Amino acid sequence: MTAAVSGGQSILAFWDERAALGDRAGTNDFVLTGIEQRFLVDTVPKGSRVLDIGCGNGASLIRLAADNDCRGVGFDFSAKMIEAAAAAVDEAGLGHAIALHRRPVPPVPNEWGAFDLAFSQRCLINLETRAAQKAAALSVADTLKPGGRYLMIECFNDGGEETNLLRRRFGLEPIAAPWHNLFFDLAEVKSWSTPDFYVERVIHISSTYHFLSRVVYAKLAQQSGAPLRYDSDINLLAAQLPQEIGEFGPVKACIWRKA
Ligand SMILES: C[S@@+](CC[C@H](N)C(=O)[O-])C[C@H]1O[C@@H](n2cnc3c(N)ncnc32)[C@H](O)[C@@H]1O
Repeated sequence: MTAAVSGGQSILAFWDERAALGDRAGTNDFVLTGIEQRFLVDTVPKGSRVLDIGCGNGASLIRLAADNDCRGVGFDFSAKMIEAAAAAVDEAGLGHAIALHRRPVPPVPNEWGAFDLAFSQRCLINLETRAAQKAAALSVADTLKPGGRYLMIECFNDGGEETNLLRRRFGLEPIAAPWHNLFFDLAEVKSWSTPDFYVERVIHISSTYHFLSRVVYAKLAQQSGAPLRYDSDINLLAAQLPQEIGEFGPVKACIWRKA
C-alpha cells in the first residue's frame, strides 16, 4: 500500500507502532493536537453527521460526539489505530454515535451515506505523491451532502517556511517535514477547486502557537541549554491565545465547500 520506508519501516508500520501512545499517538506535540481539537469543537455545528479521515485513536471524533453531540464514522488504514479507537469509544460509552472501519485512502470511501462535514487531521500528508493527495482530497466531495464542508487540517510548506525564516534569523536549524510526510502547497491546493467543490477559506489555526513555540521558546531554550518540552509554560500559554496572529506553522485548515 505504501512504499516509503525509513530504516526499513513503512508508513503503515510507523502508524501501527504509534497506536499505543494515547494522546501522543497522532503527534508527540499533544498541545498542537489540543489546538486542532478545540478548532474542531468551535467550528463543527452541533448535531452534525461527520466523517473523520484517518481517525487514528478516535480522540477527535469522541470529543465531537461528547461536546457537540455529533455522530459519525471514523476510518484509518492502521488496524492498531482502529483497535485503539474502538476501545476508547467503548470506554466513553459512545458506541451508539461512532462507527469505525479499517480503510485506506485514496479514495475516501463513500459507502457510509452522506455527511454534513468531513475532516482530516494530518492524514493526507502521509500519501506519497501529489496525484494521490489530490485524488484523496477531491474524492471527499462524493461523501458530502450538498452544502457540506471538508475541513482539511493538513501541513503546508507555506507556514513552515514563514517559521523557518525567523528560526534562521535566530541561528536555529530549519524544521523539515518528517520522512513519512509530503506537505501541501497552498496555492496548488486552491487550484484544485472546481465550481462544485472549492476552497472557501484558509484558517491559520496554529500560527500563534508555532511562532511562540518554534521560534521564541526554541531560542530561549537554546540560550539556557534546557531540553525542549512540548508542555513548556510558553507553549501552554501560546495554545490559549487566538491562533491567527500571523501565518506561521505548517498546520492550517483549508475549508472546502460542496456546492
Ligand atoms: C497524524 S495521525 C492523526 C490521527 C488523528 N486524526 C489525530 O489527529 O489524532 C495520521 C493518521 O492517518 C492515518 N493514515 C495515514 N495514511 C493513511 C492512508 N493512506 N489511509 C488511511 N489512513 C491513513 C494514520 O494511520 C494515522 O492514524
